[in-house]
Amino acid sequence: MQYKAIKGFKDILPHQVGAWNRVESEAKRVFELFGFKEIRVPVMEKAELFARGIGEDTDIVSKEMYTLKDRKGNNLAMRPEATASVLRAYIEHKMYESYPIQKLFTIGPMFRYERPQKGRARQFHQINAEIIGDPGPRLDSELIFMLLYLFSSIGINNTTLNINSLGCPGCREPFRDELKNYLKRYFTQLCPDCQRRMETNPLRVFDCKVDRCNQVMKDAPSMLDFLCNDCRNHFNSVKAYLKELDVDFVVNTHLMRGLDYYTKTTFEVQTHELGAQNAIAGGGRYDGLIKEFGGPDSPAIGFAIGVERVVELLEDYSADKKEGPDLFLAPLGKEAEDKAFIWLQELRKGGLRGEMEYRSLGLKAQMRHADRLRARKVLIVGEDELTKGKVILRDMFTKEQTELPLDNLVDELIRLLVR
Ligand code: HAM
Repeated sequence: MQYKAIKGFKDILPHQVGAWNRVESEAKRVFELFGFKEIRVPVMEKAELFARGIGEDTDIVSKEMYTLKDRKGNNLAMRPEATASVLRAYIEHKMYESYPIQKLFTIGPMFRYERPQKGRARQFHQINAEIIGDPGPRLDSELIFMLLYLFSSIGINNTTLNINSLGCPGCREPFRDELKNYLKRYFTQLCPDCQRRMETNPLRVFDCKVDRCNQVMKDAPSMLDFLCNDCRNHFNSVKAYLKELDVDFVVNTHLMRGLDYYTKTTFEVQTHELGAQNAIAGGGRYDGLIKEFGGPDSPAIGFAIGVERVVELLEDYSADKKEGPDLFLAPLGKEAEDKAFIWLQELRKGGLRGEMEYRSLGLKAQMRHADRLRARKVLIVGEDELTKGKVILRDMFTKEQTELPLDNLVDELIRLLVR
């Protein structure tokens, strides 16, 4: 029986890890510049946390969550996103008591039972950032600016930033009513899910992937026409700051973001290079959620980047481009092999990236192996040389060879080769 990974769950292989590390380390660098601290939260939570936060009627909660019962019958879920968990931790540890504004980031796997396709997996990874405790709009624009700066610093520039405002509960209610009235007129054209959503959560009809529902939504009313003064001023300020920061954007009134917790500013970064799954990051403000979770009445805003999709854009960057070892040890004969084996461990402790082959190969085969690994230098330890108390150091680029005495060999190699 040969096992395969679960459908929609992928291995990240050594030649791909370079791009992953690059994205993650660049994100950490940028987060530090902007004052973010890392938080690590569990991959499983009570299912109710997500149902309450993201919304029962969203696709994520109603169709895509991996849920299970533990042995005591508790309903648990693999996290489909990180925001709800980060807020749970923020409240549980009373982080608001230490400092009113918290900038938190977390990186890790998320789980959604979606139909796998290019750019869409069931286990995928997000780089997630949240700013808790400030009502904006400066922070809204700062967060978006940071996100685009991060993308450009990893070499992703060909993107479109879509922004929208979803208002506050006060102005969303009249919009929902108007949307409901509009949908009633097209009831028979909607898919069965949307016919139900029309009553329970009409905004979610915007997220439906069924073609005929999309057709109906083309002329749907726009939330922007319903914004109250406060929400309109907020949105106008965000746009003005973005302009001053030289950030290009498109106002997209259909951007509803698929999760129920959003208020005011929402945004999504799209690329034209990935096909249907073109969103590489999405986020927005969620001013009511912390209170909803039993915490203080704190406003907040955040985003998540889809790491798989970003890595796909960086396809040509691979770990293979990294340099090979500093030194390859090529011993000949048992005595030389044993000596080289011990030296190798000491060299590594001294900071040298060393390799050797354990299969007792001839010199030619060992040189071929050193070449494949792109080693800078090879230490040839032949039996003859050993009896003469010396070894040969060969430069793999210039092909130059020098002799080194056995005395203090390890220290001398570290002195010569550690960069
Ligand atoms: P989201 O739009 O559901 O937002 O996900 C953010 C990003 O995760 C997407 O733009 C996409 O790049 C990636 N993504 C989502 N699903 C998949 C999948 N099945 N396969 C591969 N990539 C995927 C959130 O999750 C919010 N929690 C973002 C947020 C943070 N809002 C406020 N704070």
